[in-house]
Amino acid sequence: MSHLMPNYSPLDVAFVKGDGCYLTDTNGEQYLDALSGVGVVSLGHCHKDITKAIQSQAAELVHTSNWYHIKNQEELAKKICTLSGMDNAFFGNSGAEANEAAIKIARLYGESNNITEPTIITAKNSFHGRTMATLSATGNPKVQSGFAPLVSKFIHVDFNNIDEINNHSKNTDIVAVMLEPIQGESGVIIPQVDYLNEVRKICDKNNWLLILDEVQTGIGRTGKLFAHQHNNITPDILTLAKGLGNGVPIGACLAKGKASRLLVPGTHGSTFGGNPLVCKTALTVLEVIERDGILDNVSEMGNFLSSQFKEKLRNSKKVHEIRSKGLMIAIELKQDCAVLLQRALENKLLINITGKTIRLLPPLVINKDEAGILVSKVCSLVEEL
Ligand SMILES: Cc1ncc(COP(=O)(O)O)c(C=O)c1O
Repeated sequence: MSHLMPNYSPLDVAFVKGDGCYLTDTNGEQYLDALSGVGVVSLGHCHKDITKAIQSQAAELVHTSNWYHIKNQEELAKKICTLSGMDNAFFGNSGAEANEAAIKIARLYGESNNITEPTIITAKNSFHGRTMATLSATGNPKVQSGFAPLVSKFIHVDFNNIDEINNHSKNTDIVAVMLEPIQGESGVIIPQVDYLNEVRKICDKNNWLLILDEVQTGIGRTGKLFAHQHNNITPDILTLAKGLGNGVPIGACLAKGKASRLLVPGTHGSTFGGNPLVCKTALTVLEVIERDGILDNVSEMGNFLSSQFKEKLRNSKKVHEIRSKGLMIAIELKQDCAVLLQRALENKLLINITGKTIRLLPPLVINKDEAGILVSKVCSLVEEL
């Protein structure tokens, strides 16, 4: 009998070693990892510079608490604000925590404007995390089921529909709009190109905060360091996690302007958040991304994968649509394809299935040979379905 709570249903495999885009299981079998631990291990497994950074920082200092200055945390905040155009940062340990901080800042923003029922607009089919506030923000009844009463004052609108947001312009309780630039968990749903620009304008007009949840799209996944940079806009609050630590748990909530002055002593905190170890790791992740031209690789490999899938599957009767931005890729089929998860595993490939959609989030360091193998394995799975 397992002594783990049964909230996951893991596939029947355990990995003992990782190297780049490959994982090795307990029997010594190698698997191509096209999921990166759900968009986390962006620089690949056991990247040598990340391993070195973890080892040397662990030998020096791991944790002190936020009751003292943490040099690496200040350095990371400076670096990530410079790269994003944001003003300051709070560090937690996960995407959900980054979003909790964002929601708390939005509520404080409401309070500072004498709004007693501060309300946040979020999107249907969004995913923002599993804590009570973030699952309430999430636009998916399955995630919320069983957890009533939810945290109140979230309004869910259709994603990629400007009118739906505009319709709330007269609602004086609204304090923020919170969106993923591309909806990841619901199957790589990409809005029209100027959607975020239009939302930015509405927020400016109504004095609402724009919160962008880039927990999945951030840190290079779409070919820019942050997905909203494709739109040349800056949010008021930006949340990050996943790729930022390459597997070491870290979440970040960045704020700008009026949103950056609301968390004051006593309003928020995290014992582990932003410790010397995770911050050194995240600093190294950002350095490697810059030094090794990782964003160029994301664009190049993203274009290669997308064009290969489109070409090889163009006559397939099983494919409904192929969507991608950088290395966030979805192949939506016309039928449910849950069985492909196990079949992919048997073919030594790790992927994600969401309903009728195959979702791929390969490491950002994937090379052409590995991308070619990925195309051929996925196309065979689709054709044999
Ligand atoms: C867009 C988005 N926000 C938030 C989260 C939650 O992050 P975490 O699981 O680290 O709490 C996720 C996780 O998949 C996500 O994709």
